[in-house]
Amino acid sequence: MYAFSRAVNSMHSEDIKLLMKQSSGEGLISFAGGMPNNDLFPVAEIDEIYNNLDDDIKKLCFQYGPTTGYPPLVRSLQNLMLRKGLPAKSDKILVTTGSLQAISIITQEFVNEGDIILAENPCFVGAISVFETYGAKIIGIPIDKEGIDIEALEKVIASLKSPPKFLYITPNFHNPAGILYTEQRRRALLKVLSGTDIILIEDDAYGDLFFDSKDQPLTKPLKSYKGYDVDIIYTGSFSKILGPGFRLGYMLSSPEIFEKAESIKQALDACTSNFMQILATEFIERGYLRPYLDFLRIEYRERKDILQRSLKKHMPKGIKWVEPQGGFYMWLSLPDQVMATALFKDCLKQGLVFVTGRTFDPENVNDDHLRLSFSNMPKEDIEKGVILLSQVIRGHLKEFETLEPSKQNQ
Ligand SMILES: Cc1ncc(COP(=O)(O)O)c(C=O)c1O
Repeated sequence: MYAFSRAVNSMHSEDIKLLMKQSSGEGLISFAGGMPNNDLFPVAEIDEIYNNLDDDIKKLCFQYGPTTGYPPLVRSLQNLMLRKGLPAKSDKILVTTGSLQAISIITQEFVNEGDIILAENPCFVGAISVFETYGAKIIGIPIDKEGIDIEALEKVIASLKSPPKFLYITPNFHNPAGILYTEQRRRALLKVLSGTDIILIEDDAYGDLFFDSKDQPLTKPLKSYKGYDVDIIYTGSFSKILGPGFRLGYMLSSPEIFEKAESIKQALDACTSNFMQILATEFIERGYLRPYLDFLRIEYRERKDILQRSLKKHMPKGIKWVEPQGGFYMWLSLPDQVMATALFKDCLKQGLVFVTGRTFDPENVNDDHLRLSFSNMPKEDIEKGVILLSQVIRGHLKEFETLEPSKQNQ
């Protein structure tokens, strides 16, 4: 028997392993993985970029770099962030190996075992797993179609003897719920947190993937709002735009938080791959990012539209969802009688997978939702998948209706 540390006991990391396996099974119709589309990656542009690099820069690709990030990438990021209204001059940017590393660094920086942190319920499972690994006690706050439930948040904050270390949110095209916080909800949240010493972690992994340019102003980061006394750490990622294979993310924080984060990163991996940072810098600086994002928005919107149409056409009554304005996900709410985990087992037998809502519940209990990811679906499979799913759901509804009334109420 090994004397493993308690960090290995994160229940959600088992869910993630399963999720990764299920996302890529041969012959499956998979709504499971929250990943960009394999066929949309900018392979030709990256080929061209690498082949045209000066030899000196090519050699740099193979070398270690500064822990805080490849300076030209930090400058490019600074410009992109300034355009979003973020305080990228007074605050500091740390390049990380994926934004999950940023979440991990922030958690190491602030959380001792048993500390309380607040997160949305549902919440990105990768973040839950990090929080569990560092022994945080996670309190989930419900969300609705406009954002976090302010009343519930206030109640939780008022009930706590010691303040939580931070609140983690994904306001733009939430994973898994697909929602976009309204401006009103953003302001209400900032008002509640103002002056409380509760740090806000704003995870903006999907903000650039709005489907309609008129929605772009709605993705304005909370960290760019003026007039509130809230310490916000903003995190972002290249995973959903350039590709997760880059393992490139970043965080923007106060200089004090940045300094400690740099030390933690130094101990973790010394630096993020120079290779990937150089390719990403060139991609931005040669002006490829903007047209590529326009292209992605069209492609993902088409998949969302097909899914939306198919769901409307085939889903039985009682299944509810909010049509997303960007991102990768549709979050289906099931009637009381239907359990997502039971559905999953039956769908798997038919070669269809998705992720059960329980995976995204910090308590790992809610079984009344499922996440459909449309991003990496071949367009022609989407309706087929929805038909299969609706048939299985109808089967479960019928099974329920044939139960004796006493059993229905259990
Ligand atoms: C909300 C959210 N944040 C962060 C990440 C992690 O991204 P990265 O690949 O940059 O670590 C994901 C990936 O699915 C995500 O959905």
